Amino acid sequence: MHLHFPEDQKATPQVYRLIYRSQMTIEGSPREVAEEIRRILTWSREWNHRAGISGALLFDLHRFAQVLEGPPEAVKNLYGHIACDSRHRHITLLHHGPVASRHFDTWSMGFARTNDEAALAHPEDFQRTDGEKAEDVLKLLMSLLREQRNH
Ligand SMILES: Cc1cc2nc3c(=O)[nH]c(=O)nc-3n(C[C@H](O)[C@H](O)[C@H](O)COP(=O)(O)O)c2cc1C
Repeated sequence: MHLHFPEDQKATPQVYRLIYRSQMTIEGSPREVAEEIRRILTWSREWNHRAGISGALLFDLHRFAQVLEGPPEAVKNLYGHIACDSRHRHITLLHHGPVASRHFDTWSMGFARTNDEAALAHPEDFQRTDGEKAEDVLKLLMSLLREQRNH
């Protein structure tokens, strides 16, 4: 898939952030779904680390929301791959653009499950963060997932 992002062609920002949400198409028991997501995360962490991309993946049994940040070309290329992935569909790009700094600099791909409301309030994987900025973005992703659930 080839994507055009015409509005930022003139700028050459160092950090680019992209946020999308999608509907999961992975079938099977919750355990099988979890295993497939684990595969995605294992792959992502290695690839993202090499590509200089950081971010977070949020999911329940039906949806994903993800934030990617890193060098503009790397982020856009990766999104091109992710958007073609048959493990999800109805991918909605919610935000993309240059940012002053990373929010998830310590994670090549953090994650949180959102089917547990307690975990929502204090997602374990996100407590290792070194700043409140990541939590803010996470809250935003959570509200986006909740929003999608209502549609
Ligand atoms: C919801 C979701 C999130 C993903 N996030 C990443 C990611 O952050 N980094 C990554 O390398 N692959 C990610 N993937 C996997 C890619 O879609 C793709 O499988 C991988 O980049 C390999 O590319 P290819 O299948 O085109 O060879 C994700 C897949 C899904 C379904």
